[in-house]
Amino acid sequence: MSRTVYVNGSYVPEEDAKVSVFDRGFLFADGVYEVTSVLDGRLLDFAGHATRLQRSLDELEMKSPVTMDDLLDIHRELVRLNDLTEGMIYLQVTRGAADRDFAYPKDVQPTLVLFTQSKTLIDSPMVKTGMKVISIEDQRWGRRDIKTVQLLYPSMGKMMAKAAGADDAWMVEDGLVTEGTSNNAYIVTKSGKIITRHLGNEILHGITRTAVLRFAREAQMEVEERAFTMDEAKDAAEAFITSASTFVMPVVSIDGVAVGEGKPGPVALRLREIYLDESRKSAI
Ligand code: PDD
Repeated sequence: MSRTVYVNGSYVPEEDAKVSVFDRGFLFADGVYEVTSVLDGRLLDFAGHATRLQRSLDELEMKSPVTMDDLLDIHRELVRLNDLTEGMIYLQVTRGAADRDFAYPKDVQPTLVLFTQSKTLIDSPMVKTGMKVISIEDQRWGRRDIKTVQLLYPSMGKMMAKAAGADDAWMVEDGLVTEGTSNNAYIVTKSGKIITRHLGNEILHGITRTAVLRFAREAQMEVEERAFTMDEAKDAAEAFITSASTFVMPVVSIDGVAVGEGKPGPVALRLREIYLDESRKSAI
């Protein structure tokens, strides 16, 4: 069935949605995005995503095409028009259409596109089996804290993982894990400490990461934000990832080595439960 999508002020059938061939998102990957999950027809952590979007726009000196209040209305209207109960809303802002030039054009109207993706998120089969990841070199650009649409290397990483019979790849830079291709990476040590890379330009500041670390600390779990090696990860008691579309997902194997007992661990599963409970309560 055809979806209704949002393009520059209009709600239109997906077949009729159009963006210029001169759009800088298309020509230069000059655009940023957000993915917000929807459960029970409500948005999870909308404020976090809106704040990060504003930060991404500011870092690239890009104008916001609408106010953050309007953005909430557009998200809600798309949920309503598409009768979305569970899935995601994808949002993309690009600098807009202008004759091709590397320098940012002046006075260009940004492009704003949003669409829904219906998906089973809660009962994902991977929660029971856990994910398999491989390690790859992190060859992305240096400003991974900006959520840009330059996603070719993460796509290549996902394909490398598939070719190796795995589900995803964790990226490694200078011997230390940065993050997954589209998620933040965590290990749990044998003494029960949760370790995930500290914030910086090297990783995306995950909205799910912020929430999960807060819930973990509130539940008296020990958390350390620092970089870790692949050897530490393979020797960990547990591993997991977080993102808006996977919430907390256990990782059971890294480069073919079983993590812990090789099945989803109690810390990851407990954090998933807390995250889902708490974020459903505050969903809007
Ligand atoms: N990806 N790191 C990277 C590189 C990501 O692309 C993402 C999100 C995350 C997790 O961020 P958050 O918790 O805010 O979703 C970390 C989204 C889901 C995507 O590209 O589909």
